[in-house]
Amino acid sequence: MAADGSRGALGDKYVWPEEGLTRIPDWVYTSEEIYEAEVERIFKGATWNFVGFEAEIPNSGDFRRSYVGPVPVIVSRAEDGSVHVMENRCRHRGAEFCRELRGNTPEFMCPYHQWTYDLKGELIGVPFSRGIKGKGGMPKDFDMAAHGLFTLNVTTRGGAIFASFSDTIESFEDYLGPEILSDFDTTFNGRGIRIMGYWRNSVRGNWKLYHENLKDPYHATLLHTYLVTFGLMVAGQRSAMIADASGRHGTMASAKGDEDAEAKAEGIGEMKKYEEDYRLLDDRVVRFRPEFDSDWTVTMQTIWPNLIVQRELNTLGIRQIVPRGPNMFDMHWVMFGYTDDDAELNDLRLCQANLMGPAGYLGAEDNEAIAFVQDGFRRGHTKTGIVAMDPDVEGTSSNLISESAIRALYRHYREVMDLQ
Ligand code: FES
Ligand code: FE2
Repeated sequence: MAADGSRGALGDKYVWPEEGLTRIPDWVYTSEEIYEAEVERIFKGATWNFVGFEAEIPNSGDFRRSYVGPVPVIVSRAEDGSVHVMENRCRHRGAEFCRELRGNTPEFMCPYHQWTYDLKGELIGVPFSRGIKGKGGMPKDFDMAAHGLFTLNVTTRGGAIFASFSDTIESFEDYLGPEILSDFDTTFNGRGIRIMGYWRNSVRGNWKLYHENLKDPYHATLLHTYLVTFGLMVAGQRSAMIADASGRHGTMASAKGDEDAEAKAEGIGEMKKYEEDYRLLDDRVVRFRPEFDSDWTVTMQTIWPNLIVQRELNTLGIRQIVPRGPNMFDMHWVMFGYTDDDAELNDLRLCQANLMGPAGYLGAEDNEAIAFVQDGFRRGHTKTGIVAMDPDVEGTSSNLISESAIRALYRHYREVMDLQ
C-alpha cells in the first residue's frame, strides 16, 4: 500500500494469495518486473550490503571488485586509510572499466579514453579536455569535481565492509538489531581476519531462495544426509531459528553434543542415516575445538539482502549473493580464519571447509535443491508454494520443524515491495 493508501502499480498487478504469509506466489521468483523492483527497492534501497573485508585491502591503493545487488562496484583503500565503495562504471561512456578481481593501483584509468579517477573516485584526468590547438575538447564549463564515480555510503564492523545506496540509512548496528548483532560479533570479534580462499559458483535459482534455505531448519536433517550420518546434527539437539524484529535477518543456530534424550527418541525415526554403520576414518571434518564466546557450535546468519555468515564448527566463511535476474544468482564465497590461528586451528578450518562451497558435503545439496525448486516455479502448473509449518509463531522459533522465519521475511518483503 502506498503512503496515500492507494495500491502501487506492482500491488495492482501482483496479488498475494488470499491465505496470506503461509503461501508464496511463484511470480515472486520468476517475474522480471518484480526482480527490477527488488533491485531498486532492496539492493539500492535502505539496506547494508556486504562488499568485502578490510583484510583484502590492507594498504593504500589496494582494491577489490565487488557487487551491490547486480551493480558492480570497486572497494578501495585511499592514501589516508579510508575505505571507499564506488560504482565500477566510467562517468564518460559507462564502461565497467575495472576488470581485475583485486590488486593495487595509484589510480583507476578507464581503458577506453583514459579518463582517470583517484582512490576515492574523484575524476582527476580527462585526456585532451582542452582539445588540440584550441579545437575540440570538452566544454569550458565542464566541472571535473561534479563528475567523479558514483560513490556509496560505507560502514565497517569487525573487519567486514558494507555499502549502501542510501545516505539516510540507520547504523549497521541498528540495522541488524541486538540479537543478530551479537552472533555477528561472535564471528567478527576483533581478531584479525586472515583470508584463506575463495570459491565462486552460479546457482540456477532466484536469489531469495538462498535466504529461505537458511531460514528453513526443516530441510537440514532431511536433505543433508551427511549431517545425520556423521552426527553433526541430530534430532533433539538444542537449536533455534532466530529472526530480528523486522524479519529480514536470521540466525540458524545449533549446539552439537547438547541433546535432549526424549526429543531424540521421538524424532530420530524420521531422520535417515545413509548407512547405519558408516564412520569417518579421519574425524577432523566434524571435530570441534571450542574457541568462541557462544553456546552455539553452528550459526548460519542471513544478513539481508546479500550476505550469509557461516560459523560451522571451526570453519568460517561468508557467502555474498550476486543476483543475475530472477532465475539465477552467483555466489561468491570467502573462507577465512584469524591472524593468530595456530597450526591445528588452521588445519581444522581447512578440513571443515569441505562441508561448504559449491561442491561441499552440504553445500552442493542446497544448490541442487534450489535449482529443482526454480524449475518447478518456471515450468509447473500450480502457482503457489506452502510455508505453513509451526503456525503459532512468525519470526524466532526454538523449534526446527518450522517455517516461521520464512514467513517473517516475506512480511518484511511485502512491506518494502508494496505487495500487500
Ligand atoms: Fe571511460 Fe570513455 S568510457 S573514458
Ligand atoms: Fe542446507
